[in-house]
Amino acid sequence: MKFDLEEYRSAWQLDPNVHHINHGSFGAIPTVVREEQARWSDHVQNNPVQFYAREAMPAVQAARGKIAEFLGQRADQIALVRNTTEGSSTTMRGFPFKAGDEAVVLDHEYGAVTYGVERAIVAAGGRLVEVKVPRLASDEEVVKIVEAAFTPKTVMFVVDHVTSATARTFPVQALSDLCRSRGIAIVIDASHVPGNIDLDLDKLDPDFWFGNLHKWCSAPLGTGVYRIADRWKEIMRPLIVSWQDFEPYPLQWDMLGTVDLSAWLAAPTAIDFYAKIGWDRARKANIARMRYGRDLAMAELGIGADQLREEELPLGVVPLFRMSGGREGCAALQAKIATEYKIEVPITTYSDSELYFMRISGQLYNTALDYEALIPMIRKELK
Ligand SMILES: Cc1ncc(COP(=O)(O)O)c(C=O)c1O
Repeated sequence: MKFDLEEYRSAWQLDPNVHHINHGSFGAIPTVVREEQARWSDHVQNNPVQFYAREAMPAVQAARGKIAEFLGQRADQIALVRNTTEGSSTTMRGFPFKAGDEAVVLDHEYGAVTYGVERAIVAAGGRLVEVKVPRLASDEEVVKIVEAAFTPKTVMFVVDHVTSATARTFPVQALSDLCRSRGIAIVIDASHVPGNIDLDLDKLDPDFWFGNLHKWCSAPLGTGVYRIADRWKEIMRPLIVSWQDFEPYPLQWDMLGTVDLSAWLAAPTAIDFYAKIGWDRARKANIARMRYGRDLAMAELGIGADQLREEELPLGVVPLFRMSGGREGCAALQAKIATEYKIEVPITTYSDSELYFMRISGQLYNTALDYEALIPMIRKELK
């Protein structure tokens, strides 16, 4: 089996002794991006004062402009943050929750984001409402389940566009329309979206939207994006108070004290890397890899396609019906597979679902061998 764009395997410098089929967690950056980031770091160290006192702000603004353009936005519509955890925490700490308010999240939501919602709403004297959604529920069913969870007290709804543990999409446009009609703020966790799903953010116009470029755009770690709808711009401020604090959005976020800016500055190189290949072609090539691996694993486990929700994504899950042990069990099995079989693949679960998955990613550096390596592991560990 040969995949399209296999010649790009050498564009990365990943450990050749490991099968890397977990691009979804922390990405991995191609050599050109590593070099660009190193170039920025060297440049800063040649004269740190020159850089931070005179060059940093225009450089960040130029990078932000390119990243915003890639997202179909103007430069003043996107703030740069370190990651979606920061986008989420900023939203929750700044949102004007009041006593009695309810915030609705789905049980598929990323745990750290749910913790942030809970901490903020409980502190205000409100309540977190976690809604269970069957993992294979259709988009229409999801909208109905969410609608049924809303009450006159609901002020916020938080949803993953692409979930982490279950690698499924939720219908963000329909959910956004529903929230708009009910006067409920929608918060979209788009961690896996940039690079995978083209969006018209102006049409969607979520109240709050945050995503990562260090996942599917292969930008350096610490490249997050944060979009706030115009109606919230006066209210929402960075978590860290800096000299920029009285600037308008998104300038307040451009430099929160002295920090390493090399990730943001090198991020446009990552966008160019895929743009030169062609985003569509790269995405298709990644999806084909993931499907090859996922289908091999499903066949080996004897699991039928009825246990799948097919998505146009380069990450997909294989249900593990014989697993147990909660998050600790997942971490232990993941570590065992990494050390004994040299395969980096995440084992996931969510909420208190007692459902477990092996999440398989496809990226241009993967060959069929990376996925075929799963077979002996499955025979020994998962059957
Ligand atoms: C859906 C989702 N939300 C949030 C995050 C957190 O991302 P980060 O650690 O970059 O903030 C992740 C990371 O995997 C994720 O998958």
